[in-house]
Amino acid sequence: MQLFRASIAHFPKQTTQFDNDIAIFKDGGLLLDSKEIKDIGSFNDIAERYPTANVTDLTGKWILPGLIDSHLHYPQTQSIAHYGEQLLSWLENYTFPTEMQFADSEHANTIAKVFLNQLLKNGTTTGFVFTTVHKSSSEALFSAASEIDMAIVAGKVCMDRNCPSALNDCPAAAQADSAALIETWHNKGRNRYALTPRFAPTSTEAQLAALGELATQYPDVFIQTHLSENLDEIAWVKSLFSNADGYLDVYDTYNLVRERAVFGHGIHLTPNEWARLGESGATVAFCPTSNLFLGSGLFDMTAARANKVHVAMATDVGAGTTFNMFKTYGDAYKVSQLRNEPISPLEGFYLMTQGAAVAHALDHEIGNLNPGSTADFIVVEPRFDELTQLRIKEDADFDDVFFALSILGDDRAIDQTWISGACRYRKEHN
Ligand code: GUN
Ligand code: ZN
Repeated sequence: MQLFRASIAHFPKQTTQFDNDIAIFKDGGLLLDSKEIKDIGSFNDIAERYPTANVTDLTGKWILPGLIDSHLHYPQTQSIAHYGEQLLSWLENYTFPTEMQFADSEHANTIAKVFLNQLLKNGTTTGFVFTTVHKSSSEALFSAASEIDMAIVAGKVCMDRNCPSALNDCPAAAQADSAALIETWHNKGRNRYALTPRFAPTSTEAQLAALGELATQYPDVFIQTHLSENLDEIAWVKSLFSNADGYLDVYDTYNLVRERAVFGHGIHLTPNEWARLGESGATVAFCPTSNLFLGSGLFDMTAARANKVHVAMATDVGAGTTFNMFKTYGDAYKVSQLRNEPISPLEGFYLMTQGAAVAHALDHEIGNLNPGSTADFIVVEPRFDELTQLRIKEDADFDDVFFALSILGDDRAIDQTWISGACRYRKEHN
């Protein structure tokens, strides 16, 4: 068995709301038994209990659970960082043309690998991923993730209106392709499937109904889509679904608002929608870099807390501007400062680890370093350059390390990324 010595931080408890109850071992030990975490505690305790374990000394570094990115688009890896648009014209001008290229499965295979490499070098070990409308683009991602035993949640985008004809699938094809992908990939290895209507404007009622049928048939699959990101989008939804009682109600009508449903953004929600999200057990993915980049608005964390809505942090690449979850929290903090309600570093860390895992009902496997969880973890090197060596003291507390890295850090702070007990990324040291 392998025993790592480092500073260690994680949220061990199954809390549905953030409560500060973090476990920190400044001189900690993390014991692996093959793909699983076997034990965690102070180094001396663990070393005494397992005297024959192979010790790897990482003193000066921090071991944290692998990070969870609860909403992003792998095809948009190649269209990140385009100037000057808000949501609807950005989709028309950059996103749809990019996603058309995924009709070519070789292209999909290539980008899936680049995408996973970006996750690994940024310490993300689980992503909730939109693919494209092409079934083969989901197969490309699930295959690439399976090669490294990575826990990916993903689904084929469904759109049957208001998109280029090359990206248009009819309700029957969307249902048949999604069902086939569920049968092949859901709960196969560490893969999980998410029904993925892009957003209400690109689906007819017939398509949402077809996906709602699958949601009923497969109660443990995930659902992912977008919700109330942009004011023009919301006005459009109102005109397309004149019978619905608001944007969330469109999804609710088709049984798409429930536990394991993950709604990207939720920037402009009404009090009733907040209350309904809280009662349903659904999750809102907070995507601050994207919300700032597209000028969508400022997420209302206070309303989320007041309504006990599950919140999980996400990059939303390629509208999001980084794959790095620490930096994503850095922007969440700036958003919360503009609202005069700063989100603490520990809450930020919770929203990308155990908070996300509990929201998604995956905390038996990911999000923490509890014995029995899968050995998905990262090794962080806080003092990776001249500036961080100046700013971050060697004995700094975890919240200060995490906060400073959310502002000053990037992938240079990620020294190693471990998935299922195997090191899948190791930073090159000059
Ligand atoms: N709404 C519908 N599709 C998308 C997308 O690809 N990105 C973002 N940010 N919002 C969307
Ligand atoms: Zn998105």
